[in-house]
Amino acid sequence: MSEVRIRPRQVLILIIVFIIVLMMVHRNGKRTCQGPEYLQAMYAQDQINTLPKIYAITPTYARPAQKAELTRLSHLFMLVPNLHWIIVEDANTTSSLVRSLLDRSGLVDRSTQLNIKTPPEFKLQGKDPNWIKPRGVEQRNLALSWLRAHVDVERHAIVFFMDDDNSYAVELFAEMSKIKPGRVGIWPVGLVGGLMVERPLLNADNTQVVGFNAAWRPERPFPIDMAAFAISMDLFISFPQAIFSYEVQRGYQESEILRHLTTRDKLQPLANNCRDVLVWHTRTEKTKLNAEEALQRKGQRSDDGIEV
Ligand code: UGA
Ligand code: MN
Repeated sequence: MSEVRIRPRQVLILIIVFIIVLMMVHRNGKRTCQGPEYLQAMYAQDQINTLPKIYAITPTYARPAQKAELTRLSHLFMLVPNLHWIIVEDANTTSSLVRSLLDRSGLVDRSTQLNIKTPPEFKLQGKDPNWIKPRGVEQRNLALSWLRAHVDVERHAIVFFMDDDNSYAVELFAEMSKIKPGRVGIWPVGLVGGLMVERPLLNADNTQVVGFNAAWRPERPFPIDMAAFAISMDLFISFPQAIFSYEVQRGYQESEILRHLTTRDKLQPLANNCRDVLVWHTRTEKTKLNAEEALQRKGQRSDDGIEV
């Protein structure tokens, strides 16, 4: 029998390989289990029960890209533990598309599905934009009355109005969780109002909003987009008259709701002193379906029996 001889050099190489493998396993474990700091904070066990619940109110309506938009949003919500999604369909009934989307993303227990149809006289058919009045008014007001009737007024909570087609960073929800009772949190919004970014301007010590950089209708009381702010729930209880209105021009919905609830000097600046962009007012282009229409004229369709 020949003797197996292990040279010191081989032992050294083996030890080095072992250390490298150990380091790689450790790094991978870190990446998948811990994530960025703001997520770690949201998931820390002692935090999860103390974080305010965020009620996200989303009006939505049936069109070819609806499921794609809502799928994007549902993935965001799957990452944010303290979120409750109030999804309000602009329709006479709730749909199985939305119901099964909530089901499949595991959000049934953290969501409320409502519906209310916008009166048809408020939509101008066949024109782009096909609206004469602001969108989402009816739906957001229904969600607000649901909230006023259902929330536990003793617990601090946040209300955020979310379009179904914007792009949101998970980090925005970590920032929003910092909103204090009685306050409205505010931050910049990207790609809106004809600018790369619309943002609040702060005083020297970054504690107060002293103005806005808006280019579109800067004379508005709050010249900001719907995605630029979230509201402490107690304000909706203190000011029951705060609702959205059809009686204001487009672009004035934000000012309309905020004028009941706060003043400029009471806004709470967030997102790194309003220097980080964590939400973008993206708009999805209208889906082109000319081939589909041609098919349907022949009595066929590409999505026969398939929900798209
Ligand atoms: C901008 C603002 O970002 C909206 O928050 C605001 O409601 C709107 O202007 C307005 O004042 O009219 P914009 O991108 O122009 O938004 O509007 P959409 O994203 O088309 O609509 C806003 C929300 O209303 C969306 O969540 C959309 O799904 C919903 N919507 C739109 C309906 O529920 N029904 C409709 O027929 C159209
Ligand atoms: Mn939009």
